[in-house]
Amino acid sequence: MPVETLRWWDNRGLDIIDQRLLPLQEKRILLTTTDEVCLAIKSLAVRGAPAIGVAAAYGVVVAAREKTDRTHVMNALAKLRKTRPTAVNLFNALDRMEAILDQAFGSTDPAEVLLQAARGIHEEDDRICRELAGYGAQLLSDGDTVLTHCNAGGLATSGYGTALGVVYAAVEAGKRIRVYAGETRPLLQGARLTAWELSRNGIDVTVICDSMAASVLREGKIDHVIVGADRIAANGDTANKIGTYGLSVCARAHGVPLYIAAPLTSFDFSTASGDEIPIEQRDASEIHTIAGTTVAPPDVSFYNPAFDVTPAENITAIISEKGIASQPFAMVLAEWAKGYRRIM
Ligand code: MRU
Repeated sequence: MPVETLRWWDNRGLDIIDQRLLPLQEKRILLTTTDEVCLAIKSLAVRGAPAIGVAAAYGVVVAAREKTDRTHVMNALAKLRKTRPTAVNLFNALDRMEAILDQAFGSTDPAEVLLQAARGIHEEDDRICRELAGYGAQLLSDGDTVLTHCNAGGLATSGYGTALGVVYAAVEAGKRIRVYAGETRPLLQGARLTAWELSRNGIDVTVICDSMAASVLREGKIDHVIVGADRIAANGDTANKIGTYGLSVCARAHGVPLYIAAPLTSFDFSTASGDEIPIEQRDASEIHTIAGTTVAPPDVSFYNPAFDVTPAENITAIISEKGIASQPFAMVLAEWAKGYRRIM
């Protein structure tokens, strides 16, 4: 049962499931201004690299409906670009929307032309996630257990997911798969979102605290670690939710393969290595307060990077809609870059 993470609703605006409230409340909100879309992305009401890209594309439509004026839409593009720095899907989607502004503003209905483009990005994301999931599922055997981190599922995409898409595709192919989900502090995307969507899809999920992952790997409970990506550099270095790097070190130490599952919209072929990937720094309150309860003295120092970079050498394979790239990645990724044709 795919999640309707986001949809263009009733020709009125962008309707999203408010991920800040899950799993306690399943509430949808309708975003009808550029500022509302920007805030929803910044505050993680809509989150996960592919979903951020699709939401931003619809944000451009929202802007064109606010005011049929090219300068207003250009300003909205600039505001949307500033929402979150790491997930490259945001910039890919906005570049694609910007590329059709001439066509849109040369037509009688610019908002409608932009809406068709945003719908194209949305439908493409659903299709490519399903394609990559099909490739990834070949790596899983009946009875396997997967450890994942953060949420790279339907909620993080147009509905099917990347890392969790691999699990869904394997289950649809008749394999029995169990999942361990790291809780993913500070914002608990694993405990709140991954556990929610897997359980509503009938998949056996066990939530662990992030600090338990090393020992769970050592105990031999895990066959594969599968995570998503916010930005993959040309050499395969991968930025993903903070904690992924530590997990990769532990997986490698215990001989457990780690796979990155991500569509080409999450690749940044112009970035040579992970050192150049901008890492989002978020507010200290996300660490000292959990669900309204203070858990650390708020007047001490906090460091809250939202992502880390897993070096390519800790990654066993990268799964995209083009197939499965094994080590060494550089040549295969260069081939994927050549064949990367965006659909409008
Ligand atoms: O801060 P978030 O919740 O947007 O971070 C999400 C992740 O790190 C995901 O793993 C990544 O975006 C891949 S989603 C398919």
